Amino acid sequence: MIIGIVVLCSLLCGFTGDNPYFVITKKDVELKVPEGFPKPFYRFKDNKLTPERFVLGRKLFYDPILSKDSTISCESCHQRIAAFGHFDHPLSHGINGLSGTRNVPALQNLIWKDAYMWDGRVGSLELQPINPITNPVEMDETMPHVVQKLRLSAMYRADFELAFGDTIINSERVLKALAQFTGLLISGDSRYDRYMQGKDTFSMAERKGLELFRSKCNDCHEEPLFTDNSYKNNGLKPDRALDDKGRGVVTGIEKDEYTFMVPTLRNIERTYPYMHDGRFRKLEAVLNFYGDPANFGGHAAVELKKIGRLTDEDKKYLIAFLLTLTDKTFLYDRRFVNPFMH
Ligand code: HEC
Ligand code: HEC
Repeated sequence: MIIGIVVLCSLLCGFTGDNPYFVITKKDVELKVPEGFPKPFYRFKDNKLTPERFVLGRKLFYDPILSKDSTISCESCHQRIAAFGHFDHPLSHGINGLSGTRNVPALQNLIWKDAYMWDGRVGSLELQPINPITNPVEMDETMPHVVQKLRLSAMYRADFELAFGDTIINSERVLKALAQFTGLLISGDSRYDRYMQGKDTFSMAERKGLELFRSKCNDCHEEPLFTDNSYKNNGLKPDRALDDKGRGVVTGIEKDEYTFMVPTLRNIERTYPYMHDGRFRKLEAVLNFYGDPANFGGHAAVELKKIGRLTDEDKKYLIAFLLTLTDKTFLYDRRFVNPFMH
């Protein structure tokens, strides 16, 4: 019996390379725009989607080789179970236990964004990874050194050849492959989506929550992406120690100070804690904040005036609705699983 299990185990482990679970077909990398979504900004125009490039991008995303001491991968901060945010961490943790100054955002529907980061300072999905790779408190590496390490790896030489037709390894190819993986992280099959397509029903509480949401939150967290891709001050008092001026630092314009990207609310059940500094652990706390008009003095955006005082019932309904944004098809998509782990 025990011998049987050992044999079975070693057989399974030995075959992980060809595990059908990880095989990516042409169909798996077709760009499918979910029903009701607008046209994406990034359409893989100069980065043709292929199974081999996607598989390479996935490997790079999960490989700590991208960090200086090979301890931190993209996934160290962007975890699949948290819709590629950082489960239960208010501020990011990088190399040598160093702490960043911002909460790790979820990675989903990135091709519908025209700028990235809480302050929108990065304008290109392909160039974005240079930031974490070279950030001294994240991966603390350089692109030339990443390329040099990859060139020394027989596995990666073979992977690049499969993906690009020759063994040339350079930054551009690394970044293009990564963008194939991050760009295909698409969430568009939550219960909300199915409800909108007439394939699912909502409870009374969920319907009331949707109505409240549309009258109070949708100006900024606009359907169906649940963001209008703008930067707003939603009334949070700046954390004194961090004093993060957000978008203002990027534009140098005073009215942009303390504004932050309007984050999507898709998979919000999984992406806690909330806000750019991770100050709220629970959705109840977020709604207690939005439900108190006293929070919206000073520079808070005008759209917040519509919210008014939220009753306990309003909060309950809004949360019931927000939970319909959990997308299990996305969260458990086999294409996105760590290829080194199974
Ligand atoms: C040490 C933790 C950490 C690591 C490692 C890390 N990230 Fe991030 N990531 C963050 C944080 C924090 C932000 C938000 C930064 C900001 O707003 O200044 C972010 C933002 C992003 C964004 C922008 C999301 C948006 O909606 O604007 C993308 C895309 C992204 N990371 C991809 C990656 C990729 C690809 C890698 C690996 C090459 C990676 N990250 C490695 C912490 C990390
Ligand atoms: C004026 C635009 C605006 C309105 C209206 C608004 N929000 Fe927000 N929301 C934001 C911004 C901006 C942030 C990020 C703020 C930050 O981190 O500094 C945010 C963050 C959030 C977050 C945290 C998301 C995360 O990933 O950390 C939740 C949840 C949320 N809002 C829910 C709501 C709900 C529910 C309503 C309606 C009651 C609402 N918002 C109304 C702009 C708005």
